[in-house]
Amino acid sequence: MKTQSLHPKKHFVKYSQVEMTQLVLPNDTNQLGNLLGGRLMEWMDIAAAISAQRHSNRVCVTAAVDSLVFHHPIRLGEVVTLRASVNHAFGTSMEVGVKVIAENQLTSDRKIANTAYLTFVAVDDHNMSVKILPIIPQTVDEKRRFKEALIRRNARLHRRKIVKN
Ligand SMILES: CC(C)(COP(=O)(O)OP(=O)(O)OC[C@H]1O[C@@H](n2cnc3c(N)ncnc32)[C@H](O)[C@@H]1OP(=O)(O)O)[C@@H](O)C(=O)NCCC(=O)NCCS
Repeated sequence: MKTQSLHPKKHFVKYSQVEMTQLVLPNDTNQLGNLLGGRLMEWMDIAAAISAQRHSNRVCVTAAVDSLVFHHPIRLGEVVTLRASVNHAFGTSMEVGVKVIAENQLTSDRKIANTAYLTFVAVDDHNMSVKILPIIPQTVDEKRRFKEALIRRNARLHRRKIVKN
């Protein structure tokens, strides 16, 4: 792997945390004034990619998206906060968890509107996958996500094998 000057805390999950905030404008919504699913997926992909790249110091490509759940509609005028962090780093790939919180600023109501797991692969200039740093979970939640991410990875790779065959 290329030698880089690494931030002393970059092995930790906390270092990979990303928070991205968006205001839902008319161009982001359908005819009912709800945030378009595709727009939200784009935001989730970007937040997750920044998190994966922060951990790996590489360009990362989206390899898989799973467990994308729309728990609640998000309305025009609401503020959307996307929180992403690397749950686990494997050989060349990472699982990034994204949580989306919708906030109504007139009532201060907040709800978890969406969640998903995205797998990113770190690549070099020739689009070849490259080894990444392992990641160290510290908090109870980080350790739980780290453990569960391995189970999800095995399921994902199993599905990939079935689709390929
Ligand atoms: C993702 C991609 C780089 C994988 O390339 P590949 O030649 O299949 O590479 P490998 O089989 O060596 O897999 C590389 C890593 O990706 C992981 N991977 C590949 N497909 C996966 C999937 N469907 N789910 C989970 N992980 C996957 C592998 O497990 C491996 O990770 P590991 O080293 O941590 O074990 C390649 O398929 C690709 O470029 N896809 C298109 C990506 C893209 O265009 N995304 C949208 C724009 S960013």
